[in-house]
Amino acid sequence: MARAPRLEATYEAPPNIALVKYWGVRDAERVIPYNSSISVTLDHLRSRTTVRFDPSLREDRVELNGKIAAVGPREGVVEFLDRVRALAAVTHRADVRSDNNFPTASGLASSASGFAALAGASTAALGLDLSGRELSRLARFGSGSASRSVYGGFVEWRAGTRPDGLDCYARPLFGPDHWPALVDLVLIVKGAPVKEVRSADAMHATVATSPAYRRRLAELPARSRKIRAAIRARDARRLFPLIMEECDSFREVCETTRPSLDYLTTTSRALLGEVRSINREAGHPVAGYTHDAGAHLHVFTLARDAARVRRRLSRLPGVERTFLLRPGPGGRRVD
Ligand code: DP6
Repeated sequence: MARAPRLEATYEAPPNIALVKYWGVRDAERVIPYNSSISVTLDHLRSRTTVRFDPSLREDRVELNGKIAAVGPREGVVEFLDRVRALAAVTHRADVRSDNNFPTASGLASSASGFAALAGASTAALGLDLSGRELSRLARFGSGSASRSVYGGFVEWRAGTRPDGLDCYARPLFGPDHWPALVDLVLIVKGAPVKEVRSADAMHATVATSPAYRRRLAELPARSRKIRAAIRARDARRLFPLIMEECDSFREVCETTRPSLDYLTTTSRALLGEVRSINREAGHPVAGYTHDAGAHLHVFTLARDAARVRRRLSRLPGVERTFLLRPGPGGRRVD
């Protein structure tokens, strides 16, 4: 006889940084993107989420980093729980507690780690024994990039071709130990503006108004192939220019969106220029930058160059803090 689920589970999931960006939703209801994306799951950082379904609760209770969640984030969580309840055919409300071991305001995407952790904890609590693929497919309804945080290392979220979205999920490309020499230098800049427009709405505006968006989509399959091949070959000199090209393309479609989406500060822009100078002076690509919909930068480099690149970049006025991360493991159940 099947045992009744315990109704409580805890799951940890890490954030990820995209090397090929998810930016544009083909089907908003099923959260199917226009293009496949590729990311690196980051080590050390994680969201840890406990979900307890309780038949005696009248409504969902959501606590984020020790505080009752504000209306906006709470709505996202409740909507996601509704989807999970429908899957499990239960109506119990839940008590959700989620903590990040990194500051939410640090600009590191916490929606990816947060929703991957919520997907893992809520489904486990209800005894839904989902595979990684099923979990990834579900997590994207919370936040698109969360589909990738289920797995460690280098991960691809495939857009798929089916109208029902069943082939829209992430899969691991290479494990966390594939490229031990690769590091991600995160540069936190001062005065980063708080995100005014949700990514989902911002991308919608880009698709509708940026004259550069079609060209970006046409270029992506070839660029993604090259990025996958460079990662497979652990070829930093090939990878770094490609991720900068991809980041520049993402920024171009944001800036040509009406009204324009400008995520960077003067410091972020100076950092982009400084990375280009480092590469020019060395005569080969030593580092490659990327950023998501925010002002902080991720600069990939090799461990042997990391100290030098870090010294040079952290000298720029407006850099508040830097830390070094590596590819890390994916989400996991911890109770
Ligand atoms: C620029 O996955 O955060 O970071 O589904 O609205 O939460 P929502 O969007 P989200 O968007 C990620 C945008 C990006 C690129 C990426 O991570 O692929």
